[in-house]
Amino acid sequence: MPDSVPYKAKKGLDGVVFDTTEVSHVVPAEKSLFYRGYPVHELAEQCRFEEVAYLLLRGELPTAAQLSEFSQQERAQRGLSDALLEVLERFPAQGHPMDAVRTGVSFLGMEESFAGADDSESALRKGVGLLAKIPTIIAASQRLRRGDRPIGPRDDLSIAENFFHMCFDSVPEEPVVKSLDGSLTLYSEHGFNASTLTARVIVSTLSDLVSAVSGAIGALKGALHGGANEEVMYSLQEIGKPEAAKPWLDKALAEKRKIMGFGHRLYRIGDSRVPTMTAYRDQLAELRDGQQLVETAQVLEREMIAAKNIYPNLDYPAGPAFHLMGFEIDLFTPIFVMARVVGWTAHVAEQLADNRLVRPMSDYIGHAPRDVVPLEQRG
Ligand code: COA
Repeated sequence: MPDSVPYKAKKGLDGVVFDTTEVSHVVPAEKSLFYRGYPVHELAEQCRFEEVAYLLLRGELPTAAQLSEFSQQERAQRGLSDALLEVLERFPAQGHPMDAVRTGVSFLGMEESFAGADDSESALRKGVGLLAKIPTIIAASQRLRRGDRPIGPRDDLSIAENFFHMCFDSVPEEPVVKSLDGSLTLYSEHGFNASTLTARVIVSTLSDLVSAVSGAIGALKGALHGGANEEVMYSLQEIGKPEAAKPWLDKALAEKRKIMGFGHRLYRIGDSRVPTMTAYRDQLAELRDGQQLVETAQVLEREMIAAKNIYPNLDYPAGPAFHLMGFEIDLFTPIFVMARVVGWTAHVAEQLADNRLVRPMSDYIGHAPRDVVPLEQRG
């Protein structure tokens, strides 16, 4: 063994290529993102989220027959067991919905008939179960937390429609449903981001899909990753009106605060998903009287680019869009989970198909070797 490792640490794994993947391709220089070769904005415009989920999991867009079979499998698994519903009822009301969905998903792992290591195929099969049940866990636990009875899933609705139904007991007009459906497509996959890497690392030990997804939810929760969509909305509420955006930003930057919803490790000239999400946000603002909110966001964006040349990421338009859809702010990151579970599952299956334990090295900068001094001699 050499005395010291001949590598320097790469903080944040910046620039490190972790593995190959066929799932998606981020091309920052062109501000584009492809799922299995298809541009993501075309998928959001032309396909339902269920088609995109099938594409990410199975590698090709489904035929009508394949989509019908896939949807039947997904819809049949939306219900939760009585045992899980009882557990959800006992969750502390002050807990964050991300903790509720993480704990609910973890419980699902204990209900599986076979709890051993997954192979690629079993991960893909179980991923459909998670896709089906995660929205039910989110909606039911949030209603229980507010003192309302859960509303059970319907099997005649799409994933987006059914989520509105389970949260509000009604399904809104088509453009609002389409905005959520398209948002799920935009959020469903994004290469080796922090939560996907977490999922791949977990399953590289020959753990199982549910463990990988539970860990990934924990990684997604943080404000530098998925939690940013909630933080964007809190910032916009704090700012309140368009005229207040510049003074608020000047103060925040002077205090060296990170402005949530801006910046990205890969995209330096703009995020490929932002134009589509911004169009949803702006349409929702017209439908739901959100002009002041959107104008405030537009001023903040303009001023941030002028001050720092840092561009908005997907979470920036998504925060206000989810708010205008009627969701409480602390449901925004759980909605991200509903979508990203597809990407996590596709990556877990890919990792398992050609697995090698993930085990990087460290650049040790601690104490030089020394002798242990017995307790009674330690001063
Ligand atoms: N607000 C203010 N300054 C920012 C910023 C932001 N949102 N994002 C980056 N910067 C600045 C950093 O302070 C740093 O400046 P410095 O060189 O003077 O220190 C520079 O831009 C580089 O940023 P860095 O933090 O090194 O980039 P990163 O690749 O490590 O981080 C993010 C990327 C996403 C974590 C970062 O942009 C961020 O914290 N954004 C806000 C959270 C967010 O929206 N997350 C969702 C991502 S999809």
